[in-house]
Amino acid sequence: MIELTDIAYVRSGAADLAAAVEFATDIVGLELIDGGEPGVAHLRADSYHHCLALVEGESGVIASGFTVADSDALALAESELDRRGFHVTRGGPEECRSRRVSEFIGFDDPFGNRIELVHGKQTLSRPVRLSRSAGITEFGHLCLDAPDVHEAYRFWSSTFNARVSDWIGDGACLMRIDPVHHKLAVFKGDEPGLCHMNFQVAELDDVFRNWHFLLDHGVEIEMGPGRHPQSGAVFLYFQGPEGFTYEYSFGVRRITDEAAWRPRFFDPAEPGAIDMWLGPTQRTTSQPQLRLSVTT
Ligand SMILES: [Fe+2]
Repeated sequence: MIELTDIAYVRSGAADLAAAVEFATDIVGLELIDGGEPGVAHLRADSYHHCLALVEGESGVIASGFTVADSDALALAESELDRRGFHVTRGGPEECRSRRVSEFIGFDDPFGNRIELVHGKQTLSRPVRLSRSAGITEFGHLCLDAPDVHEAYRFWSSTFNARVSDWIGDGACLMRIDPVHHKLAVFKGDEPGLCHMNFQVAELDDVFRNWHFLLDHGVEIEMGPGRHPQSGAVFLYFQGPEGFTYEYSFGVRRITDEAAWRPRFFDPAEPGAIDMWLGPTQRTTSQPQLRLSVTT
């Protein structure tokens, strides 16, 4: 069993890097960090150096990162994954530098999603300077696609310390690795990919202020504002460049009594199963997983 301590980052390829960065800063509100690395843009949302790296090149998700406790935990994870038959690679010094981590390993999950396990994710002491007052407080969660969410749960719960918080039928499995209702979710999708990347905002008002801001700037709203009955979070999904779906949300449930929590089952066909305010719902756009022969 490999213990994940947190989510780390999303690394995504952008064919038009300038446009993707402009959206991530001017529209989403993330801070652009000058990482001094041509072709790579580091975007910051919280105390860490970055949670989103946009890499000039083919459009698509490169990797989704998770943290483990330390170097020993990473070495144990490496041997455990190898024992289970995964092809595990170690990041070289330049790759570690680009990710601002001490060490990392990478492997493909059984559904083709590229996962990276890291430790030593860099913290910045200076305050976050959001590019606009979007109210973002942190990188909240990431969601991956897999053709069978029950199989996906078997993988994540047997290999890692992920526990299901709630099911949305055969459509989604929402998982926690700490008290937050979900830091990771897997949605049903034919191909591997990143379903969306979530940012928490400080106030309910931020969700609605951002909604109007996005509408004023012609951004495609994919779903919301609405409220998920599972996490209790008020959500807003919108589409960025290169098929990348962002989410703002406020008020996610924390599961503080592990022993008492029982996962619940919601039927997506029932009104209110996705949005308890009964707004229109749809499957958001996923960014396909890139199949790279070498890490980028
Ligand atoms: Fe989400």
